Amino acid sequence: MRTMTRKLFVTTALPYANAPFHIGHMMEYIQADIWVRFQRLRGHEVNFVCADDAHGAPIMIAADKAGLSPQAFVGRIAAGRRQYLDGFHIGFDNWHSTDAPENHALAQSIYLALRRNDLIATRTIEQFFDPVKGMFLADRYILGECPKCGAKDQYGDNCEVCGAVYTPTELKNPTSALSGATPELRSSEHFFFRLSDPRCVEFLRGWTQDGRLQPEVANKVREWFSGDGSEDAGAPGGLDDWDISRDAPYFGIEIPDAPGKYFYVWLDAPIGYLASLKNLLDRRGQDFDAYLADPALEQVHFIGKDIVTFHTLFWPAMLKFSGRKVPDRIFVHGHLTVGGEKMSKSRGTGLSPLRYLELGMDAEWLRYYIAAKLNARVEDIDFNTEDFVARVNADLVGKYINIASRAAGFIAKRFGGRLAADPGVEGRALLDGLRAHQDAVAELYETRETGKALREIMMLADRVNEYVDRHKPWELAKHPEQAVLLHDACSVCIEAFRVLTVYLKPVLPALAAKVEAFLQIEPLQWHDAARSLGGHTIGAYRHLMQRVDTKLLDALFEPPAAPAPPAPGGEPLAAEIGIGDFARVDLRIVKIVAAERVEGSTKLLRLTLDAGEGPDPQGQPRLRTVFSGIAGAYAPEQLVGKLTVWVANLAPRQMKFGRSEGMVLAAGHADEKAHPGLYLLEPWPGAVPGLRVR
Ligand code: MSP
Ligand code: ZN
Repeated sequence: MRTMTRKLFVTTALPYANAPFHIGHMMEYIQADIWVRFQRLRGHEVNFVCADDAHGAPIMIAADKAGLSPQAFVGRIAAGRRQYLDGFHIGFDNWHSTDAPENHALAQSIYLALRRNDLIATRTIEQFFDPVKGMFLADRYILGECPKCGAKDQYGDNCEVCGAVYTPTELKNPTSALSGATPELRSSEHFFFRLSDPRCVEFLRGWTQDGRLQPEVANKVREWFSGDGSEDAGAPGGLDDWDISRDAPYFGIEIPDAPGKYFYVWLDAPIGYLASLKNLLDRRGQDFDAYLADPALEQVHFIGKDIVTFHTLFWPAMLKFSGRKVPDRIFVHGHLTVGGEKMSKSRGTGLSPLRYLELGMDAEWLRYYIAAKLNARVEDIDFNTEDFVARVNADLVGKYINIASRAAGFIAKRFGGRLAADPGVEGRALLDGLRAHQDAVAELYETRETGKALREIMMLADRVNEYVDRHKPWELAKHPEQAVLLHDACSVCIEAFRVLTVYLKPVLPALAAKVEAFLQIEPLQWHDAARSLGGHTIGAYRHLMQRVDTKLLDALFEPPAAPAPPAPGGEPLAAEIGIGDFARVDLRIVKIVAAERVEGSTKLLRLTLDAGEGPDPQGQPRLRTVFSGIAGAYAPEQLVGKLTVWVANLAPRQMKFGRSEGMVLAAGHADEKAHPGLYLLEPWPGAVPGLRVR
């Protein structure tokens, strides 16, 4: 059978770069990776990419709390991604960032195209503003009393006590969750994507209802057009315009021709799919525009059920009306729960993917288990420890791995590793039976009915095991005159094992590689299931996979140890000094009144300090300038207004960039390279500039 080579561009959702991966992320990647590996085994061309979703207020605020610039903060999270992806054999071709230059350029160009198409409007809206932080507050950063029931400490969008939905301005006694200050209502001009435009509505009605979405997703989306039940969209009979701008300070991409305005993170986030692809193709010397222009290209996004609106309304409309290719498929999955518990945004769950790997647990146990639970519907799936142990030990190891371990030894010891040329009538019938399921299994993978695919494969493994039980190689081996029967039976087992390995390879890529080495064959492709290995010589059987020890699962769910404090570094204490020595150092509280990057230096910030010294002879406030090597740890905006400690009587130093007067104090590891991170000292509230530290 000749099939056309498909060209596929596949993504998973871009995770927020504010925390390491949790097990829910791994579930999404495993699902997509299985599908992608399946396509590749069939000979199709796939580019499979992802990226960190770097922008937005929560990340900016988290970085601020961590005392880092947002860039440094997301950089740290990004540096931790590899070990998870490699550890679970997730075969992305590229991992990029929405803060990368490709994304800035693409986001601005898509926006400008929408603007040319008359789909951008501006409107002045009133919003709460935090006068202390100097920024507008998203609803989730406003706390107050519920206007309906009076419950305290409710967020700006809905009440967790009575369920009321409201706007933040309706809250009583609102405060900023960031500073505790009373927010002020201020007006600001916002940019909107005019999704209410009849062109958008008409396009989306078609695009969402033409069969490319899962039926339950298409039905849900249809409700948004009739105006019932959505918070995100759904003016009666149409769609609401979408607010795509945020005011500075914001970690994001500047809106062209609009100083101080940034794209809302959800505008540039999906564009990150394209940015990651572009980065990949550029590095390969391939033409990005030509690649996307190919009418045969299929663009497929795997996402979770919580981000459907963005991917079925905003994203296709953005692409369509900027003259670009629209997605062909959005594959929506449910969420993973662990022992019936939902993932908490802040704590994740008891199941840490990293701990799983650190305990030496086999990544392919998890891949297999998740695969066994997955289907094409938007259903939550649960990780349950007993179930996990049963599936892995009884099915994966007990049914599949066992086939090889029962037969391989005899082939090696008794027949010099050579498989029988033709395994006889019964053997052929069994193998033909396994091969007859090849298209059915393929169809199940293709339609993401992975659980059904594995059930079908295990049903085939049962048949092979029944064959083994009928022929009892261990009995045959006792009678030298039955060598031919033994040879046939064991050859059938190895052949059957190879066919099952092809079927399982999308789920178990590392195991398949071990099997290929042991069978001394080229990497298996999907069509290899139909071939025969008759007469081939295989290598010595090597142990392929362990059973799960339940002790490992106990260890996995033990409450994690308290987070390790930042490495103290084992730096030896400096030589002893007397109090007199210390008193010679004049340490003062200062206020950072300005902070700027220094052109030509990636390390230094120029700080302007008020040390409480009063006016100079000209009546100007006396200020000090210090060049400090903290640019990697802090963005200038974060520092302005902060108090810190200054070494006042350190001899001034002439630097390339200017004169530095003294220094500010920060804690850091002796081995800065191995343990990056600098922590500026800050006095307790009440301290004022000029006070001496003693
Ligand atoms: N940054 C956005 C996505 C932008 S896509 C242009 C985001 N990030 S996320 O980190 O919160 O989620 C990333 C993906 O993980 C989403 O598809 C989300 O549905 C998925 N999951 C989050 N929790 C999950 C589970 N508990 N189970 C399965 N998938 C989960 O949303
Ligand atoms: Zn209430």
